[in-house]
Amino acid sequence: MFADELEGNIYSGFSKSNVTELIEKIKLLEGAEAGWATATGMAAIFSTFGALLSQGDHVLACRSVFGSTHNILTKILPSWGIETTFVDFDDTENWDKAVRKNTRLIFVETPTNPGVDIIDLKWLGEFSSAYHLINVVDNCFPIPYLQQPIK
Ligand SMILES: Cc1ncc(COP(=O)(O)O)c(C=O)c1O
Repeated sequence: MFADELEGNIYSGFSKSNVTELIEKIKLLEGAEAGWATATGMAAIFSTFGALLSQGDHVLACRSVFGSTHNILTKILPSWGIETTFVDFDDTENWDKAVRKNTRLIFVETPTNPGVDIIDLKWLGEFSSAYHLINVVDNCFPIPYLQQPIK
C-alpha cells in the first residue's frame, strides 16, 4: 500500500473508510467516475484550483460567485500569476471573446450565491468542450439530488 500498488487505508491523514464511503455515495449521486472529499466547500474550491492551475494560466468565471471564491480568484491566484476574467452569465454570445490562449478552466456556480443566476449547463458543456477547457461547477445550492453538472 505504501508503494501505491494496492488501495487501502494506511494513514488517516490520507484516507479513511468513512470518507471513502461518503465519496462513493456522492459519486453515485453526481454520476462521477472519481471523487474526493474535503472538510469545507472552500477547501474543495481552493484545492481544485491548486490541482488544476499553474502560473500563467487564465480562468474564465461567471461574474456572480460566492464572496470567498471571489477573494481566491481576485486576491490569491493573481499573486501566483493566474488571472481571471469574469463574464456575465446571460451574455453567452460574448464568452468566446474572453477566451485566451492560456485559458485553462471555466468556473461557475449555478444557481449563484447570492445572485441566484441560472447558467445553462448543457450550453456550458458544449462551450468548454469546443475550447478544450476544464469545466468546474460549484453545485452547492441545488446539491446533486437536483442537479448533476457532469451529466
Ligand atoms: C456557492 C457557495 N460555494 C462555496 C461556499 C463555501 O462553503 P463552506 O462554507 O463549506 O466553505 C458557500 C458557502 O455558503 C457557497 O454558498
